[in-house]
Amino acid sequence: MSKRMHCTIALLACLMTLQAQNLYNEPYRPQVHFSPATSWMNDPNGLVYIDNTWHIFFQYFPDSTIWGPMHWGHAVSRDLLHWKQKGIALYPDSLGYIFSGSIVIDSTNTSGFGTKTKIPMVAIFTQHDPAGEKEGTDFFQNQSIAYSMDNGTHWQKYAGNPVVKTPGLKDFRDPKVSWYAGQKKWIMVLAAGERVMFYSSGNLKDWKKESEFGTGMGAHGGVWECPDLIPFVVDGKKVWLLIVSINPGAPQGGSGTQYFTGDFDGHQFKSNDTLTRWMDYGADNYAGVSFSNTGKEKIFLGWMSNWLYAAKVPTVQWRSAMTIPRILGLKKIGLHYFTTMEPVSMKPLSTSAKPSQGNKMKLQSPYRIDFNIPDLHTFTIIYSNSSGQELRIGFDENKNAFFIDRTKAGKSDFDNHFAAVHYAPRIAKSKKSSLTVILDNSSVELFADGGLTCMTDIFFPEQPLNKWRTEANSNLFNPIQISQLKSIWISP
Ligand code: FRU
Repeated sequence: MSKRMHCTIALLACLMTLQAQNLYNEPYRPQVHFSPATSWMNDPNGLVYIDNTWHIFFQYFPDSTIWGPMHWGHAVSRDLLHWKQKGIALYPDSLGYIFSGSIVIDSTNTSGFGTKTKIPMVAIFTQHDPAGEKEGTDFFQNQSIAYSMDNGTHWQKYAGNPVVKTPGLKDFRDPKVSWYAGQKKWIMVLAAGERVMFYSSGNLKDWKKESEFGTGMGAHGGVWECPDLIPFVVDGKKVWLLIVSINPGAPQGGSGTQYFTGDFDGHQFKSNDTLTRWMDYGADNYAGVSFSNTGKEKIFLGWMSNWLYAAKVPTVQWRSAMTIPRILGLKKIGLHYFTTMEPVSMKPLSTSAKPSQGNKMKLQSPYRIDFNIPDLHTFTIIYSNSSGQELRIGFDENKNAFFIDRTKAGKSDFDNHFAAVHYAPRIAKSKKSSLTVILDNSSVELFADGGLTCMTDIFFPEQPLNKWRTEANSNLFNPIQISQLKSIWISP
């Protein structure tokens, strides 16, 4: 090779590295949350764990930073923190765009797509036909399937698609499928207008309607979307959690995720109370569902945005990120069951874990602070930058609510709903409380009382919020661990 060619190759390699570095270094780019390298992303889809690898697929439009003909993007991780974006998994076809859905590992080859020794991954998703929608029909959302024999890289769509045809509902989508071992069948829960419907199948191809749930239950300020049905054992008793996203009609306006608890017998879901509950009281956690094939451990991931302003947020090359993956639980408080969500272990990202050094200190975002609160009273933690922008989070004793105030946290003129104070009711009843805060360049996640109250908000400061201070009686307030976090975009 000539010296000149050598130099050119070295220069190219250098440029590529620089480009890769710039790519995840733009203003507002989350450093510990998954976001696509470029282009538009919304819901997490097909979340699945297999062969020591976590797979996320996601609603993706590669040609723009605003929503368009939906594809499934794909990314993989070994630790739920560092993600490697892969090629597009599913492309739109003559049946329509590829809307949200799920993936199952068909380990006994019920579908016949694999063999006894080669297990297929099967994706179940909505196909949204834009032509049908335009013509004003009610038949443009139907459910299709596809399979992969190489862990999600290449996909073959089933020739008999669609496998579940719409009964004539404009909103009929987002199938989440799981194995119901007791009756050796697959259960699909899917959103149908302002209800969910349950279907069952022995082979993932032929589906039979079992029942419906939702009339007169929960919130109905908008269309129901992206359901999930998950069993838990709480104090020795089996309890089913039914998650349903709704847009609009959430507590902070726009999109949010409500849930129900109750029994499921393979045919029907029966709620065990009439409460309306929300998984996250912030404005920016939507369409979240759980990973499949994880055994008893349940991991939840949501889209960290809100349809009110998702297409207007001031990021340039990409739009939206996912939440931190969360360990999902169910807990009985008084007579009712409530979800708990706590971040997965972030140890691989922690460069320094400092004990408390008083209530003032400089940090570089991203970082995580864990507080122990022996006797909960009103307090505020203020995260700020040198431009005087600040994000306030805390607890208001009079309202018995945690809060996030993003009114002065940076850019908000892109939407008039954005600058607001959000409140989340406290669910725990103890005097003692705890709080974990994960602060990235443009998001904050708050997990109070072991995740009984959660809030997720995005914000867009001119510079990262690298300073923090508290307004409270310091005896009430005790940061037990402060962890500076490494960017996930630098190899572990
Ligand atoms: C939820 C949602 C889903 C749909 C997808 C389309 O955010 O509206 O109901 O499948 O997004 O991108």
